[in-house]
Amino acid sequence: MSTDSKFIPKMIGIICNWCCYGGADLCGVSRFQYPPYIRLVRVMCSARVDMKHILRAFSNGADGVFIGGCHLSDCHYITQGNYYALNMVLVVKKIMEYMGISPNRLKIEWVSAGEGIRFANVMNEFGSEIKSLGPLGKGEGMNEEELKLKLKAISTLIPYIRVAINERLRVRFDTMEEYEQFYDGEEFARLYRELFADKLAISQIILLLREKPLSTGEISHVLGLTPSEISRHLTSSARHGLLRYEESRWRFALA
Ligand code: FES
Repeated sequence: MSTDSKFIPKMIGIICNWCCYGGADLCGVSRFQYPPYIRLVRVMCSARVDMKHILRAFSNGADGVFIGGCHLSDCHYITQGNYYALNMVLVVKKIMEYMGISPNRLKIEWVSAGEGIRFANVMNEFGSEIKSLGPLGKGEGMNEEELKLKLKAISTLIPYIRVAINERLRVRFDTMEEYEQFYDGEEFARLYRELFADKLAISQIILLLREKPLSTGEISHVLGLTPSEISRHLTSSARHGLLRYEESRWRFALA
């Protein structure tokens, strides 16, 4: 929790043209107040938001990212893009959580063009949440380097994460509650371990070794993982020809 009352967050809202933007417009016309530090970007559908946009926003200093679309089943396109956006956002939130970045910094909500007051309420609530979390990284107790490393490690895996969502995580439920239950449940936790956990750890290790050769203990210290976990990742990466062990220095380096 941030104790800095002077903290003014940087926030971005990416909202769909047909519903949420209409709600934002009505909110403005009706003179409902919402935090002025939330900058809005209009897209044609929430499905147009890619995880690279979210990660780029965080990497460029956003403390909170909001995705707004039409209510479930009300998307204006036959593909019902908001279901696609919801799956993607819930996966990215879980990855953020695993990486020690508060998932509450990313929010997806539905607002119709007639819900100006709802738009203001959602924005005010999210603005307060981000204010209480504090600046990105600092609020999580991470230094700038650590934060950069984590965001870069996730960004590097974007093509893989997209495929994993399409092939293994394309779930479809009718309500937000059912989505929350699935993503907080044991089945998703198992899929997460199978699909993402090792890849994210290895991605961070490779990025660290790009800077300089490091020992198992040094990597374990930076990543906060146990030496035995690091050793497992190093051994499998070396087996795949990604790394080599420099015996003279007792360090691992990129192959
Ligand atoms: Fe609004 Fe698709 S058009 S979410």
